[in-house]
Amino acid sequence: MIQMREVCKTYDTGVVALSHVNVDIQKGEFVFVVGPSGAGKSTFIKMLFREELPTEGRLLVNGHDVVEMDRSEVPYLRRELGVIFQDYRLLPDKTVFENVAFAMQVIEAPRRLMQRSVNSVLDVVGLRDKYRSFPSQLSGGEQQRVAIARAIVNNPSIVIADEPTGNLDPETSWDIMDIFKRINRAGTTIVMATHDRNIVDTMKKRVIAIEDGRIVRDQQRGGYGYEA
Ligand SMILES: Nc1ncnc2c1ncn2[C@@H]1O[C@H](COP(=O)(O)OP(=O)(O)O)[C@@H](O)[C@H]1O
Ligand SMILES: [Mg+2]
Repeated sequence: MIQMREVCKTYDTGVVALSHVNVDIQKGEFVFVVGPSGAGKSTFIKMLFREELPTEGRLLVNGHDVVEMDRSEVPYLRRELGVIFQDYRLLPDKTVFENVAFAMQVIEAPRRLMQRSVNSVLDVVGLRDKYRSFPSQLSGGEQQRVAIARAIVNNPSIVIADEPTGNLDPETSWDIMDIFKRINRAGTTIVMATHDRNIVDTMKKRVIAIEDGRIVRDQQRGGYGYEA
């Protein structure tokens, strides 16, 4: 479902963020992408939803050829993906309900379906009683749960997260990981970049380690693998 072949990314500045990356990720996998700051984790993540394009190599996501695809095909790729960021990226002037519903309006879902789906994903993340709150009235962990609800409301086949627990305390981070575990158990593929040693070591999922733009380790049931 994700296939990278000899993928390289050099930014306009000349920085080589990724070089000769080869990765296959199958449906239903849970994958951590780890590595020091500046290693290329975010670049790896951004290429999956075509926020950045590879400068060389081939990249297939859900059967879409990310490099060769027409600009008009990009929305179709993105609606099959749920993307979650460290800083939540909620719309501050919209309620919890509206933030999640917005993701469905974008794909022009029928109103009845929208009500039902939004309520259902707010249940999944345990925030149904906060549907009328604004982001500023929520804790960081609650805001991230809204972002997860928004990411999954259109039933994506892949959830992509860049340091989703980066701004959260350990206990709240585990609440977020419990939601990810549940989403994964329901069959959704998860690709998550993280710095969180404790989470990676405890969950024993596949670990792809990147250093200086290269994959230095790709291990099933792996650990974080760096000294603190
Ligand atoms: N938009 C950009 N333009 C130029 N260089 C960038 C850009 N984004 C990231 N980089 C550089 O690419 C390298 C990898 O960055 P990044 O993928 O953000 O790493 P990580 O997420 O592992 O910290 C770093 O040297 C970073 O400075
Ligand atoms: Mg990053």
